Amino acid sequence: MSLHHATLHQLKIFNTLARHMSVAQTARAMHLTPPAVSIQVKQLAEAVGEPLLEQVGKQLYLTETGKVVAAACRDIFDRLELLSQDLAAMEGLHKGSLHLAALTTAQYFIPRLLGEFSREYPGLDVSLFVGNREAILDRLSRNEDDLYILGQPPDSTRIFAEPFAENPLVAIAYPDHPLVGRKRIRPKQLGGESFIAREQGSGTRLACESFFLEHEVPLSVRLELGSNEAVKQTVAAGLGISIISKSAVQAELASGEIAMLDVVGLPLQRQWYVVRPEKKIQTAAARAFQDFLVTSGLG
Ligand code: PGA
Repeated sequence: MSLHHATLHQLKIFNTLARHMSVAQTARAMHLTPPAVSIQVKQLAEAVGEPLLEQVGKQLYLTETGKVVAAACRDIFDRLELLSQDLAAMEGLHKGSLHLAALTTAQYFIPRLLGEFSREYPGLDVSLFVGNREAILDRLSRNEDDLYILGQPPDSTRIFAEPFAENPLVAIAYPDHPLVGRKRIRPKQLGGESFIAREQGSGTRLACESFFLEHEVPLSVRLELGSNEAVKQTVAAGLGISIISKSAVQAELASGEIAMLDVVGLPLQRQWYVVRPEKKIQTAAARAFQDFLVTSGLG
């Protein structure tokens, strides 16, 4: 006999016997009869070529060889357990679903990342809800999605938030605006300017209000608009200045349609966060997308 003749079944029985050190208990745990346990262990000992057990009185003991085989059995079954967890996770990744909710402002990069992720896992059903901060926080409180993309996580200990990219907020104006090209504009100077603001409930709006409040500058909102797109068009048309996430205006800054203002205290250094309720059990797909975001290189 050689070790190659040992079967997984025998190793499993011996692993259980090494834990209980009782043939009767092992038989019960394995749904076998005691003689069946003894035969399998005897055959394993023959395959190993050494006795695995010794009996002193009524008590069973592992021999030195038995201890080595028992340690190897533990390694083998721990590894098999890991393998079954990995296989279950892979199955989840190939057939599962992923529900995301992201801020409107994140729509400038999340769909592209989601596209890359979906190409890697084509069997996953992915849904993406896009809304402002208030809408996303509302969905988070109702536990509607697997992951949420926010510019500022809510103040709660019951959520888990991981930053994955920079999200600077910059001041913008139309290219011929008199403040364009000026160095170190003081926040006070923005007080007299018509301001194009996002709607109440928007994270951008909240950040703008705290910036003006912090510098004790009155915010004179000329227009309140429900999307970054509308804000950009209005600023480009010369109706006022605004403060907006840089990711929303990359293209316009590059083409020269919109200019950035050099204001003291700006850009506001914020970050993008991937957020979920702390106690929520993560699906394999959600875990994989979170890892994908954190390692995406956007940070
Ligand atoms: P918003 O949030 O899209 O609701 O304005 C953006 C942010 O918080 O950065």
